[in-house]
Amino acid sequence: MSDFLELAVARRSIRGFTGKDVPQEDLLKLLKAARSAPSGGNCQPWRFYVIRDKTVQAEIARASGGNAPFLLTAPVLIVVCADTARSESRYGKRGETLYCIQDTAAAIQNILLCAKDLGLGTCWCGAFDEDAVSKVLDLPKSLRPVAVIPVGVPANEPPVSADRRPLEEIVTYIGESGILSHDEEPHRKIEHVNMGGAQFRDVNLYGSTFNDADMRNVEISDVNLSDGRIHSCNLTNVTICDCKLDGMTINGKDVTGFMEN
Ligand SMILES: Cc1cc2nc3c(=O)[nH]c(=O)nc-3n(C[C@H](O)[C@H](O)[C@H](O)COP(=O)(O)O)c2cc1C
Repeated sequence: MSDFLELAVARRSIRGFTGKDVPQEDLLKLLKAARSAPSGGNCQPWRFYVIRDKTVQAEIARASGGNAPFLLTAPVLIVVCADTARSESRYGKRGETLYCIQDTAAAIQNILLCAKDLGLGTCWCGAFDEDAVSKVLDLPKSLRPVAVIPVGVPANEPPVSADRRPLEEIVTYIGESGILSHDEEPHRKIEHVNMGGAQFRDVNLYGSTFNDADMRNVEISDVNLSDGRIHSCNLTNVTICDCKLDGMTINGKDVTGFMEN
């Protein structure tokens, strides 16, 4: 598994922040990541408003219907705007209504992933009154606000969850798939949690990592743990039975060796 897949899977929307500030150098990295996104004809039809002003944040929170108090508590907001005129001048209606939105969406996702990589939390917020946000920021007519992104240090990490639709449901192969089995997909990361007494039954945890977890009295049965890693965990009284374990390691040791001990 590439580290990138791990990062992409682990990114979740964060809606609660500690009071800790976001360093300027990290903010700069987010903006550089945003600017690196692909864009139709390399038009780069975007503008990023970086907001560190509680009055303006409150106005944006209000324009979002008051349902997003985290827009006020985040130390920074980035409002990503599409420059519709820039794309239209090159591609006409398609540029104005489609390309510039796709381009900004790519930039937004780059910000989200870069933030995750830096240990920062974000949330892509699109539910706001466009006119109200445009007014707050005094946007020229050609700029359309596409997303408000709060950025901050996560107050807590949402648990890794398996809430994505199965590949079988969303992928159509034309020609041979070249994929042996979709059920090898999960690469979950389970870290810094107390799982005492938990039971895992009949689940696919292929390639997953358990790190710094209290796994006392955990029962794992009929689970695909192949290519997984268990690291720095309390394994007192753990039982593992009827599991797929090929390529799995515990504290860097091949799992077969561990079982014999
Ligand atoms: C176009 C778009 C608009 C969204 N708008 C909001 C929003 O207004 N408020 C919010 O809290 N989350 C918003 N989200 C975040 C989604 O709720 C979230 O990405 C989704 O539930 C999946 O959860 P995850 O990001 O933790 O993987 C938006 C996401 C996208 C892509």
